[in-house]
Amino acid sequence: HPDAGAGAGDGAGRGTGLSQEEQKRIAAHRAVEQVESGMVVGLGTGSTAAHALDRLGELLRRGALRDVVGIPTSLKTAAHAAAVGIPLSDLDSHPRVDLSIDGADEVDPSLNLVKGRGGSLLREKMIEAASDRFVVIVDDSKLVPRLGASALAVPVEVVPFCHNYTLTQLKTLLNQQPHFSGAKLRTAADGSPFLTDNSNYIIDLYFEDGITGDLNAISDGILRLTGVVEHGMFLGIATEVIVANKDGSVVVLN
Ligand code: 5RP
Repeated sequence: HPDAGAGAGDGAGRGTGLSQEEQKRIAAHRAVEQVESGMVVGLGTGSTAAHALDRLGELLRRGALRDVVGIPTSLKTAAHAAAVGIPLSDLDSHPRVDLSIDGADEVDPSLNLVKGRGGSLLREKMIEAASDRFVVIVDDSKLVPRLGASALAVPVEVVPFCHNYTLTQLKTLLNQQPHFSGAKLRTAADGSPFLTDNSNYIIDLYFEDGITGDLNAISDGILRLTGVVEHGMFLGIATEVIVANKDGSVVVLN
């Protein structure tokens, strides 16, 4: 149920036209309010999640929170979290995570997500799927009617071995999708393949107007391809989405 609460104390009432960065910060701070002392917290990756790391670090340094353990979803997040004073662990030592907080590239009306523009989808999915609660933090530009509807890609992490073969297999599978418009190996600035934290590659899938049909069936089809490690559709994993609007108001979807 949408809870159209004002973002009291978080920028509400400042008039219209907040920057996207301010919207991200508002959503992130609202999510960090759910962290309690002693919790194991999954730490997301990306520019929105970075605001949550800063806030969590600040509350720990101030002593407002104690004994929080963070489980980072990427090497970049691990470095950031360590720099702001969040103690770190991993899923091996803490297989049960109380709460994860992370951004998303797209959120559909059923709270399914596309994630992985930053390339961290595998670790994100492992940690967020292991969480009792997964709170997604976004500005309103991330809301879409259907996954794949924005200009952003749906990423798939693949093993480097014969990745062109996997690319062809993905294209063959998705050609059955009415709106599928192409698949491309993600490259780094120097033109070499983009490498994930797991030393894998990313193949970006593009759709015009979004994915139609049974998302779970499409997900299963992609995962059945042997060279695929994981994809960036997060189906039924988010428990709550905090959306910060341009006017400073906050909407909670769950
Ligand atoms: C990284 C992700 C990010 O959460 C997603 O790309 C959103 O990032 P941002 O908050 O910078 O818009 O999935 O793999």
